[in-house]
Amino acid sequence: MSEISLSAHKITDRLAKKEIKITILETVDSTNTYLKKSITDASLEGEVVIAASQSAGRGRLGRSFYSPNGSGIYMSILLRPQFSPEKAVLITAAAAVAVCEACESLGSKRAEIKWVNDVYINSKKVCGILTEGAINPENSNFEYAILGIGVNVFAPEDGFGADLREIAGAAFSDPEPYLRERLCAEIINRFMDYYSSIRNKDFLVEYKKRCFTVGKMVTVISGDSATDATAIALDDDCRMLVEYPDGEREYIASGEISIKPKK
Ligand code: BTN
Repeated sequence: MSEISLSAHKITDRLAKKEIKITILETVDSTNTYLKKSITDASLEGEVVIAASQSAGRGRLGRSFYSPNGSGIYMSILLRPQFSPEKAVLITAAAAVAVCEACESLGSKRAEIKWVNDVYINSKKVCGILTEGAINPENSNFEYAILGIGVNVFAPEDGFGADLREIAGAAFSDPEPYLRERLCAEIINRFMDYYSSIRNKDFLVEYKKRCFTVGKMVTVISGDSATDATAIALDDDCRMLVEYPDGEREYIASGEISIKPKK
């Protein structure tokens, strides 16, 4: 097993943008929550918080994200998006592609995306992404967004709990030294690159190629309702076109809706 703590300079040495402010923590409740609390008007886009473990890691739709020590990376990036909050999914999608490419660049097996925010390797979830934001009530623009990325780099020492074993996996099988740090830097570099020209959607072709949800039978879950459908295609705003058994079609935006591929 690699060192439990993360080495700051093993990350910063590999960053393309040396001016990025990085805070490395041994443990925290949630890097998204920590970053949110620390934001001031002077906080700059690109600031990153990385933790070696989280005691209350958060996922989409109020779920928790298991964040044990020593085997994963848990990070949050502060963004000041200059586009409509309705397009926040583009941040998540660009990050998903950045994670896939970063893992593969360090020798993982092929990484794929479960719409909208999960990365899978060997048919197991190895990464979850949670983008949260604050909206300025006066103009409905973003005040800031926080991109949270959690990756199971290696399998946890005690394995995944019974509730996760079926779904969760690790991106790498061998705990090589400093792989967590190298992966952090690869993800940050690749994501910031896509984000700097996010309007061009340079990540979209890869996102569509890697999205294994398309073509599958899915359950569309919205609040208490769960409806069977077929995922037909993604549009250029990462909305999923689904077709219900009665032939009706609908574009689903990620928001509060999730879709679950049927086995
Ligand atoms: C999901 O699987 O639904 C998303 C999980 C997102 C987890 C990351 S870990 C870093 C950041 N801090 C959190 O509390 N959550 C995100």
